[in-house]
Amino acid sequence: MDIMPLGPGFAAEIRGVTLADVAADTAIYAAVRAAFEQHSVLLFRGQEISGEGQLAFSACFGPPEVTKVGSLGTGTNFVILTTIGDDGKVVPEDHRFALRNKANQLWHTDSSFKAVPALTSVLSARTIPDHGGETEFVSTRLAFERLDPGLQKKLEASFAWHHYGHSRAKVAPGLATTEELDALPPRCWRMVWRNPVNGRGALYIASHTYAIEGMEPAAGAKLIEELTAAATAPGLSYQHKWRNGDVIMWDNRATMHRGRPWPGNEPRYMVRTTISATAADGLESMRPPARVAAE
Ligand SMILES: [Fe+2]
Repeated sequence: MDIMPLGPGFAAEIRGVTLADVAADTAIYAAVRAAFEQHSVLLFRGQEISGEGQLAFSACFGPPEVTKVGSLGTGTNFVILTTIGDDGKVVPEDHRFALRNKANQLWHTDSSFKAVPALTSVLSARTIPDHGGETEFVSTRLAFERLDPGLQKKLEASFAWHHYGHSRAKVAPGLATTEELDALPPRCWRMVWRNPVNGRGALYIASHTYAIEGMEPAAGAKLIEELTAAATAPGLSYQHKWRNGDVIMWDNRATMHRGRPWPGNEPRYMVRTTISATAADGLESMRPPARVAAE
């Protein structure tokens, strides 16, 4: 197995190993897992992708999420990200599918708004637009390490609130349905996720983050905005131009990502599997004190 660095200080391509190898061999899994802990984003090219194969690979890393209400694929282990409607045609730009892609174009980490946040997401390209549609990543671990020690200390002792409705409202009012909002109440997490394998901390923020516990709403929102801007400043990202057969996995504890736009008349079809974080991934250290959680 070869590890080829891709981005500015994070992200790597894994060569010489297929998704099926990882699912079949615990030693290969261990090597890929170690690369995941270190590089945060892993690219596998030239894969023969099936839903079953993607899920078997993903499930090596932990328990698969069941897709939430209101998403395509609800009740299964797959999230379908598509702009192709039931009639086989590309949907208009004001269609819910298209608006959801707009929401995915905000810098975020997956599932921070859920009762159990995600360790990793695995994304495979099935239909790729000819122009645009890249996925762009930044390291929130490197972003955290660039902050001054005083702010690092403050953030490590701070907790922020995450809500699905917050990120969706930035795109279109009513994009999050009542059913989704009922199923996804706000969640509170520590602002730094320390990786138990290498001890390195990462900022844990996303487009879903709307408030910081114990701060005035405006001051909290301003700090979230400043931290996001610093983490995503020009020159810090790895932008992935998709090819057929590409599969990318990323560490939701240590990165943010966003989709990039593409011409509205070109179809795009992607399949995501998502793995929940567990105690071994540092989940328990992310929970707020009981007093905060009860609010
Ligand atoms: Fe995402």
